[in-house]
Amino acid sequence: MLVLGIETSCDDTSLALYSEEKGVLGVYTAAQLVHDRYGGVVPEIASREHVRTVLAVYEGLLGRAGVDQRQLDGIAVSNRPGLVGSLLVGVGFAKALAYVLRIPVVGAHHIESHIYSNELGGEALRYPCVALVVSGGHTSLFHVTGVGRYRLVGNTRDDAAGEAFDKTAKLLGLGFPGGPAIERVSADGNESAVAFPRAMIDRDNFDFSFSGLKTAVRLHIEGAGHQDARGVADIAASAQAAIVDVLVHKTINCAKRIDVRDVYLAGGVAANRALRERMKRSCAENGLVYHAPLLQYCTDNGAMVARAGALHLAAGRDDGVDLDVFARGALNSWSE
Ligand code: KG4
Ligand code: ZN
Repeated sequence: MLVLGIETSCDDTSLALYSEEKGVLGVYTAAQLVHDRYGGVVPEIASREHVRTVLAVYEGLLGRAGVDQRQLDGIAVSNRPGLVGSLLVGVGFAKALAYVLRIPVVGAHHIESHIYSNELGGEALRYPCVALVVSGGHTSLFHVTGVGRYRLVGNTRDDAAGEAFDKTAKLLGLGFPGGPAIERVSADGNESAVAFPRAMIDRDNFDFSFSGLKTAVRLHIEGAGHQDARGVADIAASAQAAIVDVLVHKTINCAKRIDVRDVYLAGGVAANRALRERMKRSCAENGLVYHAPLLQYCTDNGAMVARAGALHLAAGRDDGVDLDVFARGALNSWSE
């Protein structure tokens, strides 16, 4: 089954071709650099950019992969949660294509897609497991027991982990998106230089809070005055360590508490090497099995959407022309 995946929930127009037998046949992503000068994504501009690029990205993808659109068996498209205007472009495109080609189309939940990005390396998810989804908009822990079986066991009460990276980078003048920039400059820094807060790390729950870190970083910068490159690297490394500490601590506790063996990372922040290494080590120390998506499938991409959608298409689902978009929508399909 050859599936086209479409991801336009935020500022990347990313389309991919995926088949269960052959894996990812191609990914084509058009990043919207226009937002740089605003220091964050401007929704109206994002939707207009998607409209401008989606057809060219689609044709480029098929051309590079040597695939004729009549070979497509189904389409999966992000339809929730996300920027509504941006989602609409992808969903409108997907429905029109499905109608013309007379093939099924399914809406994919963005977080479910991130979780299944772990399968793009070729290995199926092992259930039951715990998945830590860390991105620009989400920081959530899920207990996953099968396809469509997700229980939200922990969540951020304010900022997402990716936001914490982005805001720290902005305060340090490192540009947007901040995660990769913080990771880069942290390499030369001392992570023990500044003792930033590890909010809620000792609380007996799996919730997170990152808004205090942003304030602590701001106060530190204001108090310390002008920073040379070494000072910036120390602040970046210390902030990164604070974020990683909390994420690893809570995830390991969660896996032990609900007694599962397999731990998965997902989302843009899962690309962070410090997080990957720390999580891997802590899993090993605690008798848990660590998994993470391939680096290229951590940040938003069409391949993860195609993978998650393929599971639903294989089950015979077709959302058809009624498929709609939603700004919000938690991924939480069962409770204990
Ligand atoms: O999943 P994603 O591409 O989009 C959302 O669904 O939000 O995640 C984007 C987030 C941004 O906040 C970005 O700064 C962060 O992921 N990110 C990273 C790294 N690469 C991307 N954070 C830390 N380290 C990285 N290497
Ligand atoms: Zn995402």
